Amino acid sequence: MTQIGGFIQPTRRSGALGVHSVDHFAFSVPDLKIAQHFYTNFGLEVREEGGRLELYTHGHPHRWTSIGEGPRKALGYISLGIFEEDHDRFKANFERLGIARIDPPPGLERNGLWVLDCNGIPVELKVAEKSSPSSKSEFSQPGGGVGVRSAPLRGANGLVRPRRMAHLLVFVRDLDASIQFYAEAFGMRLSDRAGGGAFMHGIHGSDHHMLAFGQSDAPGIQHCSWDVGSVDDVGAGAMQMAEQGYTTGWGLGRHVLGSNFFHYVRDPWGSWCEYSADIDYIPADMDWEGRAHPPENSFFLWGPEPPAEFHMNFESPKMYF
Ligand SMILES: [Fe+2]
Repeated sequence: MTQIGGFIQPTRRSGALGVHSVDHFAFSVPDLKIAQHFYTNFGLEVREEGGRLELYTHGHPHRWTSIGEGPRKALGYISLGIFEEDHDRFKANFERLGIARIDPPPGLERNGLWVLDCNGIPVELKVAEKSSPSSKSEFSQPGGGVGVRSAPLRGANGLVRPRRMAHLLVFVRDLDASIQFYAEAFGMRLSDRAGGGAFMHGIHGSDHHMLAFGQSDAPGIQHCSWDVGSVDDVGAGAMQMAEQGYTTGWGLGRHVLGSNFFHYVRDPWGSWCEYSADIDYIPADMDWEGRAHPPENSFFLWGPEPPAEFHMNFESPKMYF
């Protein structure tokens, strides 16, 4: 429980302009009760606030996700956290790049800097505490000693509860344009890319990716990832969801780009919710070399083949019927 066990001073790269976190994101679904069941069983703390569901992780003060009701599942906006001293520099940066500011979506506070990204996704930059990790998150997978039973009895384990949101992967219309836009406008950097996917980190210290892109014909949410502390938690999380009827998934496996152990659970709207453990970490003082990799060598190191619908964008108009 890295984020809870002790205060870690937020890191920052001196002088450079860049967002420090994906503060939260918002989306809509047709029925909040279904969302409540899914995310509660996933191990999150789901609070009803103002007619919406707000997703927290147990024991952590940060609100990671906001869910409202709408005609279909749809990405609403992405909110990126910035340091207070960078607010006016970001404002000037938008002006320099000719990026127009927009009004926030109805009902939201006006104190952030709102723009549309190159895909038409509303993005907020707001002064916020750094919610991305400032050190690598703890990971431990107990090994067996000699003459001891290392696995606990099944009944001894409680529910898996993720510690924090890890990252968000959104579908974008133009992968190259999105990498460039998020670098120039928001100061994020490319960690790695392969095929139709690209992974971006924050310059002030973040996981290998806090935001990722998948090529599609329309914006949408492909998956949201939640950090847990062991491979056992990844596997037990998958089982806890299967016991509640969420049996479609992909895992257990290990990614190459990011290196994390994963299990994805298909959500009720066709996108995915990931249990992730031991993702690579890029500290604030490191210049990670962003590279393109052959997709056949970089998607996953081991694990089952992903389901065909793993790459489908159910928010695309082509998928409506
Ligand atoms: Fe992921």
